[in-house]
Amino acid sequence: MINPSPKALKGSPSPRHELGVRYQRIRQHSERLAAHLTAEDMCAQSMADASPTKWHLGHTSWFYETFLLAPLLPGYTPFDPIFGYLFNSYYEAVGPRQPRPQRGLMTRPGLDQVMAYRQYVDTHMARLLDTALPEHTLALLELGLQHEQQHQELILMDVLHLFSLSPLKPAFDATWPTDPAGRRGRWRHQAGGLVELGHNAEGFAFDNEGPRHKAYVAPFEISDRLVTNGQWLEFMAAGGYTSPGLWLSEGWATVQGQGWQAPLYWQRLPEQPAHSPAGWAQMTLRGLQPLHPDEPVSHLSYYEANAFAQWADARLPTEAEWEVAAAAGLLEQRDDVAWQWTQSAYSAYPGFKAAPSAVGEYNGKFMCNQFVLRGGCQFTPAEHARLTYRNFFPPSARWARSGLRLARDARPANLHPVGTSTALAPHAQFHRDVLAGLAASPKALAPKYFYDAAGSRLFEDICRLPEYYPTRAEMALLGRIMPELAAVIPTDAALVEFGSGASDKTQRLLDAAPQIGAYVPIDISQSAVDGACQALRRRYPRLQLVPVVEDFTHALQLPAALGERPRVGFFPGSTLGNFSHTEAVAFLRGARQLLGRQACFILGVDMLKPLAPLLAAYNDAAGVTAAFNKNLLARINRELGANFDLPAFDHQARWNARHERVEMHLVARTAQTVRIGGQAFHFAAGESLHSENSHKFSVERVMALAAQAGWKVSGQWLSEQPQVGMFVLR
Ligand code: AVI
Repeated sequence: MINPSPKALKGSPSPRHELGVRYQRIRQHSERLAAHLTAEDMCAQSMADASPTKWHLGHTSWFYETFLLAPLLPGYTPFDPIFGYLFNSYYEAVGPRQPRPQRGLMTRPGLDQVMAYRQYVDTHMARLLDTALPEHTLALLELGLQHEQQHQELILMDVLHLFSLSPLKPAFDATWPTDPAGRRGRWRHQAGGLVELGHNAEGFAFDNEGPRHKAYVAPFEISDRLVTNGQWLEFMAAGGYTSPGLWLSEGWATVQGQGWQAPLYWQRLPEQPAHSPAGWAQMTLRGLQPLHPDEPVSHLSYYEANAFAQWADARLPTEAEWEVAAAAGLLEQRDDVAWQWTQSAYSAYPGFKAAPSAVGEYNGKFMCNQFVLRGGCQFTPAEHARLTYRNFFPPSARWARSGLRLARDARPANLHPVGTSTALAPHAQFHRDVLAGLAASPKALAPKYFYDAAGSRLFEDICRLPEYYPTRAEMALLGRIMPELAAVIPTDAALVEFGSGASDKTQRLLDAAPQIGAYVPIDISQSAVDGACQALRRRYPRLQLVPVVEDFTHALQLPAALGERPRVGFFPGSTLGNFSHTEAVAFLRGARQLLGRQACFILGVDMLKPLAPLLAAYNDAAGVTAAFNKNLLARINRELGANFDLPAFDHQARWNARHERVEMHLVARTAQTVRIGGQAFHFAAGESLHSENSHKFSVERVMALAAQAGWKVSGQWLSEQPQVGMFVLR
């Protein structure tokens, strides 16, 4: 049943006394938790899985009464015989019980009687503890104490669920600590081999943690930190909850049946962007709180954790991997934030045998249809978590404080050195986004995927087309206003260009503003950055070049080499128009954080204008834009082995008046099925794959987006028709 802890007790100077003190401390902790609640709070049951606090207080006392006092304290009379029925949880061997979903109906006994019951049990336990106890009894007592600590954690989980359903969203404790915010996880490599797992019988463990045994683990990588709310928002923005391809079948049915759109305690804030932390609040023990993107995400089902892992081109760790990595000291946030779902089904370790007595029902009989969670959580009492602890819940459970840590099979060390971020390799990300985008309804893909080598060449051709005015109009505008723009750039500034590509427009700025001391091109394409730097080095030998090869929407830090220089962001070309307004605000906010408080930001956008020149710019006579659009399908064929039939799709540019944007679509001429790997995607005749939005702006819109991101427009210049705009934000 359990591993007794004789070593901890034998040989210490006053074992009985110490155990008595420990008993009192743990009992009092339950009552300290209850002190935050009213009698009404303690009686309510929010759902079948959660129990009223009053019941927890009674049940933990019942455990000592049933398994220790009644059999072992001579002459003990139960406090009230009916309590054996009311407070038995699930012990068939002990007898019938109040049905679990009806614990909230127990308005009687009153709270005062339950507290009197606790007192009665404590008085008698003190007498029992004053006698010499055999090891088996000490082991049972330890189990009772660990059991009460489990219920202390459950009290908090259950109260949080109850309060989350209250219209008042009460705080259990307004001073309850928040989770530590911090960086995202990094992959840590762990060699494989034959490992030992499970409890080694030193000190206490629940029966399900043993016997210690050997298992083979293949080399793997595991994230050193838990997935954050910010990462979860990215999953949601990528259609995580609407893409069946990411979900287990049962999970997808649950998502649809329950209408899940976010973790359990997230609450949508009206009129705020859904994919930004500002769009959500989160119910916590401190009441409803703003959602912090850098705190770990919690209150997820196994289904959600697994879908996220699929999306991230990773997986959940097995419990063996988790234990090996934890023992090797690779894991941060091990047991103080959120329990971590593993992919391991909850079952017996080799050699496990439940005890024949009633306490044998403690863990063993639940080894079916549940998954193991490892670690511990913010609600776990001090001294209760252990390396080998095996918590378990059904895969749909979300009210337990559960989060996730990613793992993946080890990759060759030279490709993925220890310490690389959990961001996906570009190819895997493309693959994942294409599958999700084709499974979504309506079908859509992010326009960033246009720009492979062929797409980038086609885009350069577009920029030279007679119909495509934005590049020429912006160049002309820049030429006209350059002295004014140069004047806003401080001496020795670092110019940080987002999505710099060939850095063509930058040269104009560098010529006009020789006071620029450093240039930071940020671009996902290594070859584009290398090429640009080579050209710039020749032309501006004194300019410090600090290239950053990264998706510019994800850049989190500027290289330390820049020092304290003032920073000026540069984002021409109306690429902001290819973002949704939510993404635009998130990008501008991120840029503000990246550049620091004193920074300014030069932004070029395409303005609203009459429809004819607009649509012509995206549907040119020579068909270059059509080729650019269709190259997306060609790229999917090339890189993912798909079988898109390019002539069976038409390029279409449409004006969407409501959203003030030109949309590009690839429209299926006939009904057809496209295959990518083992997956089939059906297109109805006329169905479109939405490939790009190109928003057009008014001055007011630019001001509003900038303001939402914490910037202020301090300068603005508009060109002649066809009109483009240049803005300086501070
Ligand atoms: C890169 N971006 C600003 C271009 C635009 O106009 O939205 C991409 C483009 N799409 C079709 N033609 C050009």
